[in-house]
Amino acid sequence: MIKTRLIRLLDHAKKYVVFQVIWKWFSLLCQVVMIFSLSLLLQKAWDGDLSGNFVLACIIAVFCAIILRFFCDRQASYLSYKASVDVKGILRDRIYEKLLKLGASYRESVATSEVVQMAAEGVEQLETYFGRYLSQLSYSLLAPVTLFVILSFVDLKASAVLLVCVPLIPISIVAVQKLAKKLLNKYWGIYTELGDSFLENLQGLTTLKIYRADEEKAAEMDEESQRFRRITMKVLTMQLNSTSVMDIIAYGGAAVGMIVTLSEYAKGKVGIGGAMMIILLASEFFIPLRLLGSFFHIAMNGMAASDKIFALLDLPEPDEKGEILEPGEIDIHLAGVGFSYEEDREIVSGISMDFPAGSFTSIVGTSGCGKSTVAGILMGRNKGYSGSVTVQGKQLREISEKSLMEHITLVGHNSYLFKGTVRDNLLMGKSDATEEEMQIVLEKVNLFGFLQTQQGLDTTVLEKGSNFSGGQCQRLALARALLHDTSVYIFDEATSNIDMESEEMIMEVIKELAKIKTVLLISHRLANVVGSDRIYMLENGSVSCFGTHDDLMSSENGYRKLYSYQNELESYGKEERKAVAE
Ligand SMILES: Nc1ncnc2c1ncn2[C@@H]1O[C@H](COP(=O)(O)OP(=O)(O)O)[C@@H](O)[C@H]1O
Ligand SMILES: [Mg+2]
Repeated sequence: MIKTRLIRLLDHAKKYVVFQVIWKWFSLLCQVVMIFSLSLLLQKAWDGDLSGNFVLACIIAVFCAIILRFFCDRQASYLSYKASVDVKGILRDRIYEKLLKLGASYRESVATSEVVQMAAEGVEQLETYFGRYLSQLSYSLLAPVTLFVILSFVDLKASAVLLVCVPLIPISIVAVQKLAKKLLNKYWGIYTELGDSFLENLQGLTTLKIYRADEEKAAEMDEESQRFRRITMKVLTMQLNSTSVMDIIAYGGAAVGMIVTLSEYAKGKVGIGGAMMIILLASEFFIPLRLLGSFFHIAMNGMAASDKIFALLDLPEPDEKGEILEPGEIDIHLAGVGFSYEEDREIVSGISMDFPAGSFTSIVGTSGCGKSTVAGILMGRNKGYSGSVTVQGKQLREISEKSLMEHITLVGHNSYLFKGTVRDNLLMGKSDATEEEMQIVLEKVNLFGFLQTQQGLDTTVLEKGSNFSGGQCQRLALARALLHDTSVYIFDEATSNIDMESEEMIMEVIKELAKIKTVLLISHRLANVVGSDRIYMLENGSVSCFGTHDDLMSSENGYRKLYSYQNELESYGKEERKAVAE
């Protein structure tokens, strides 16, 4: 019923829960005072010795008790709010920090949509657990005992019967819990699945429309929603049924207590005032636990959500204490490197490559031969590789991710631009960059003139840079990478799928950069790599040949074949265009 790990999250919110219980307890005492005054009044009236002053005193006592009770309840709800706000904040911080610590490879372990759901709805589900359930749990133990102690002075037998009936409610809750746990886990499973496909279909909506596959997907989602509806109804039915069971026990228990009281009254063991006091307070024995029962289901839901949250928080983190790279020149060596995403299917194997400091090296090969996989290894994203990769003489797997990111920059084929301004996006590369520095890199990638016609550095960038052309996005991403100013740059198809003009501009910048930095250029278009110091040709996951462009062209090999083939294709295209133009 209590999860110690969740309690540990409470931290300084613990005092809110404790004070909440105290305020509720005061509220109960007010209630007792009120009913006691009324009962006394009845007893006196029954006995026939009622005085005006006594009536007034009773009325004042009742009135004060009501006002005090109102104040206590208010205090308790305020603290409930404080406790849940506090814990929700803490949990969301933890999730966020964890994602940062998981680093670039977080998607290997958890889907983005699942993280979103956990941080939003999942955390929200814990509100009741912390805000109400925990305090109610302590209070519902405290209240019957308090009432028993007070009422035992009035009539021991009746109050003992009431106290004995109380544990029937938690027994029924435990029974329901056994049933509920499996159901709730299933509920959460279906819920996150639905979220996954909803997010995916929404993101791919344009594609779905183009292929007219939207209707099919809509039908699939309908089916998933139906499943979610069915499981939700099951959960609700279970909750309603168990509520009815608890009601029967609670009010049944109170009724038994009342009957015993009446029989005690009939036997003359208790006066009319005492009997009324017990009867009016009988239900108070059960109400706290009954309320606990109704919070319990929401709390259970929260606990099921917390399992998922803790699973995320428990994911192993990359070692932050790893080795640190020295500033300055960086050389990289791969010896006999292999990697597979799935067992039994090696993507690259036995790869040996050298990227000396300050060199310009290229990796080429047809699509799917493993180029990006090599880049992923160098960026620390593909962790479980075999063989040896050294950076500055240190084993890559022992270097801290942070240090690696400070020295290697990757520009991929669709770099992510964030919603905000051009300035915001550039500052990600270097948080303290000056206006001049930003201007210089924008000029290098030939964007400055264009931006001048907009709002300069304050030009808005929409999500994923959707208000820029593909070429402009890549050039802006390149400018950001240049600001980052690391010793090593990896360009993985940085110029694919963009206009020729942008491609030429970007290649110019890369060639200039290669004069002062260690550059690794990955490209399937061989015309781009001609000027490199060394070219590695990958075929089926291993290096088939390497050397300068001239070396490679002087013998018969895969590179020469591919180069001639691409050359032919491109010149054929050019002639076609010329013919059309004439
Ligand atoms: N995350 C992944 N999970 C499983 N297989 C992958 C993953 N990424 C790439 N692959 C597979 O690895 C092979 C090489 O991919 P990649 O290195 O991206 O090729 P390239 O960049 O040379 O086009 C492909 O067959 C691809 O299907
Ligand atoms: Mg690739």
